[in-house]
Amino acid sequence: MILHPTYDVNASGHLTAAGLDTVELAREFGTPAYLLDTDAVRAMCRLYKSAFHTFFGPDSTPAFAGKALCYKGLYRLIAEEGLAADCVSPGELVTAHAAGFPMEKVFFHGNNKTDADLALAVDLGVGHIVVDSPDELGALAQIAAGKGAKPHILLRITPGIDPHTHKKIITGNVDSKFGMAIATGQADDFVKAALASSSLVLDGFHCHVGSQIFDIEPFRDACDIMLAFIARMRQTTGFEAPILNIGGGFGVRYTERDPMIDYRANIQALGEEIDRMCALHGVKKPAILMEPGRSIVAAAGCTLYTVGSVKTIPGFRSYVSVDGGMPDNPRYALYQSEYTVVNASRAADRADFPCTVAGRCCESGDLLAEGVSVAKPSRGDILAVLVTGAYNYSMASNYNRIPRPPVIELSGGKATVAVRRETYDDLIRLDV
Ligand code: LLP
Repeated sequence: MILHPTYDVNASGHLTAAGLDTVELAREFGTPAYLLDTDAVRAMCRLYKSAFHTFFGPDSTPAFAGKALCYKGLYRLIAEEGLAADCVSPGELVTAHAAGFPMEKVFFHGNNKTDADLALAVDLGVGHIVVDSPDELGALAQIAAGKGAKPHILLRITPGIDPHTHKKIITGNVDSKFGMAIATGQADDFVKAALASSSLVLDGFHCHVGSQIFDIEPFRDACDIMLAFIARMRQTTGFEAPILNIGGGFGVRYTERDPMIDYRANIQALGEEIDRMCALHGVKKPAILMEPGRSIVAAAGCTLYTVGSVKTIPGFRSYVSVDGGMPDNPRYALYQSEYTVVNASRAADRADFPCTVAGRCCESGDLLAEGVSVAKPSRGDILAVLVTGAYNYSMASNYNRIPRPPVIELSGGKATVAVRRETYDDLIRLDV
């Protein structure tokens, strides 16, 4: 196993993903290509479901965050596994709907939904619209009244937690484009306005702390603050929230330096905290939702590239250039996110060639990794970047007019195309 159970090395010295030879997959499907071990995705869905059932209670459910990875086949898988879904744009809503996803299990997010977005959500029968601001509340109430509909809503609340400093209330984190802050008193007014609307049904609250968080403390803090808020709202308005959605954010191991994470133990710790806080405040335990994205799909995915040039600049470094880059994975260029890179063609050899992995774009910041070591590659070798299942395909662009790679699903020893490779015709299709 390399980093996660999906990855290993076979007798030919090739990297395998879900038991399949990645060098053969590269030959069959071409490169660059995203691979996704859907059995591993299903295992994560089941882990979340079972832990939620045990520690949060039978009405609680994980909602997969489609911003991490979004295509029709994945929504079908998520529906089969019985999860709800968090959609963050009309495009994600339409994808879920086209896949036959049960729209009543969708939570629709976004800090600036247009009137058209809100109307679409009402028309598609979205289960919960997560209302972000008083302006949006007013717009939705009007749209719903016009359609004779009565949509169910959650309100996005800003609990004021910095997941990296662990300070509970700091002004910096009240300063957010998302939601209404408890610290400023605006969250209270938001609740009162929602309760006053006769065309909306308020079902509870939503908050989100951050992403790629390994520590449990920020989530615990969020539960404490939100349950105290629920208790206070009951006192001041008589409304006792039946749903509390605490967002996504559990971290994923990208490199050997990242810690292992026990998701079930984290959910258990949160469940215990929620029980403690409900008892403390004397409130009825709400149904708990979380919106994991990264932790469900990241580890199950990798990207295959073909090595083009290998160039060593004496006294500086070696560049290994591949046939993809920031258009299929902008995360190093954007966030300097670290990845594990493997020479899939020589995965049994010592990874002793330090290098920078560069993409093919006309831009020097187009890098996939720096300071990594791989078995010395030569032109034609297959290079794999591991743990790209989240925020890669979903963040891909056509920069430099480069077609997006396909998504190849791996399951039960078989590989199938779930999203086909973009063609040059696709690229010019919209040009008039
Ligand atoms: N729910 C809400 C309201 C969110 O804002 C997010 C992520 C999630 C759920 C899912 O969080 P996850 O479980 O995936 O951490 N592009 C960045 C990540 C941005 C995440 C934004 N919100 C990246 O590539 O790291």
